[in-house]
Amino acid sequence: ELPFSESYRIKMVEPIRKSTRAEREQWMKEAHYNLFLLKSDYVFIDLLTDSGTGAMSDRQWSAMMLGDESYAGARSYYNMKNAIRDILGFDYFLPTHQGRAAENVLFSALIKEGDVLPGNSHFDTTKGHIEYRRAFAPDCTIDEAADTQIELPFKGNMDLGKLEKVLKETPKEKIPCVVLTITNNTAGGQPVSMKNIREVSELTHRYGLRLLIDSARFAENAYFIKTREAGYENKSIKEIVREIYSYADMMTMSSKKDAIVNMGGFVAFKDEELFKRCQMFCIMNEGFITYGGMSGRDMNALAQGLDEGTEFDTLETRIKQVEYLGKKLDEYGIPYQRPAGGHAIFLDAKKILTHVPKEEFIAQTLGVELYLEAGIRGVEIGSILADRDPVTKENRYPRLELLRLAIPRRTYTNNHMDVIAAAVKNVYDRRESITRGYVITFENPIMRHFTVELEKA
Ligand code: F0G
Repeated sequence: ELPFSESYRIKMVEPIRKSTRAEREQWMKEAHYNLFLLKSDYVFIDLLTDSGTGAMSDRQWSAMMLGDESYAGARSYYNMKNAIRDILGFDYFLPTHQGRAAENVLFSALIKEGDVLPGNSHFDTTKGHIEYRRAFAPDCTIDEAADTQIELPFKGNMDLGKLEKVLKETPKEKIPCVVLTITNNTAGGQPVSMKNIREVSELTHRYGLRLLIDSARFAENAYFIKTREAGYENKSIKEIVREIYSYADMMTMSSKKDAIVNMGGFVAFKDEELFKRCQMFCIMNEGFITYGGMSGRDMNALAQGLDEGTEFDTLETRIKQVEYLGKKLDEYGIPYQRPAGGHAIFLDAKKILTHVPKEEFIAQTLGVELYLEAGIRGVEIGSILADRDPVTKENRYPRLELLRLAIPRRTYTNNHMDVIAAAVKNVYDRRESITRGYVITFENPIMRHFTVELEKA
């Protein structure tokens, strides 16, 4: 049998630049040891996010040229509408500029103060939009997700017992919906099984409630269902996707991930009444209902991207690359959230930098070290991201300190993966000598990680 290879060839390239360690030390200091504050020109391999950083296909770029920029009723809007109906099965939708804007439109219509929206590790902006409205986002993820060394095929699942407890203890009118995130980004890009999706849906509906699926990486989730869940091996990704959404009432999507566009998103509904209630919030915050936050050309690229992103070959190429990086790290004995996620590897920083005190931000320290080592930029998923407790104002220290290495779609080659793994190994080999981290010199009250400034402890 021949070895595995990518399902595309490359037609356009973008140069990237290496730098010296001395240069990186200077730049990192100027950026106050915050990777978000670095110029991208100072980064060799950029793993900050897989959001909006993928390479569009020739078909997507052609679709851009055919964009209809009419204010109302544009052809591009109908292309997007048809893709959402045919691929996902929703009759109603509103285009938004990205995922968090979709959350804003939907939650403006749904959430009142004191409401409760249980979920499996809500994404930061989702949680932000809930808590900003003085509502609550209890986490009902399965406990195993917090142990990086347990191998489970569907480590992103919702714990039905935890969910039912919340549903039982909360008056029905206080629960606008249950939020299921596929794949579960926060838990490490881990998928949710079809069985779990179905059971969450049944439980939610038994309580007379609605199910929202946060769908940034829904196609990657479908790939894992096909390759890991009994009964789905012979189904196409598109068939699996249709089944997933047969269980949902609404979806929000950051299309910058699995629809492989640089900007865009939407909220979709089965219920016309709710769609109509949300229209006003779209018009106020995004734009008229047939373009929302998007240009016609971007809606066209999104429609094309939804089709390509739900093709098995596209997904296999993508997910096998993340898996390839994971295998390299295994060869070097480096601990990460197991198994490898769909979009990223999450390094277990606490198991790597065992000498850095938690007060000095372990995952952030690992992120800075990796940048200094090779110009590779990851992102901290740890106590800087966790912000301070709103009441006590103390730093919150989550159980896991992770450094996420997110792999953009169709962007880097496996040679880049080799460089990443070698650089991580170099840091790992000198881990005993890394004993100090960083302290904060400036921070904003919420979502501080984007703009935080640090200095050496
Ligand atoms: N939901 C999930 C699961 C996400 O991962 C993201 C974004 C959003 C919603 C919000 O979408 O960025 O388009 O407004 N995740 C990016 C990331 C930023 O790096 O993981 P957005």
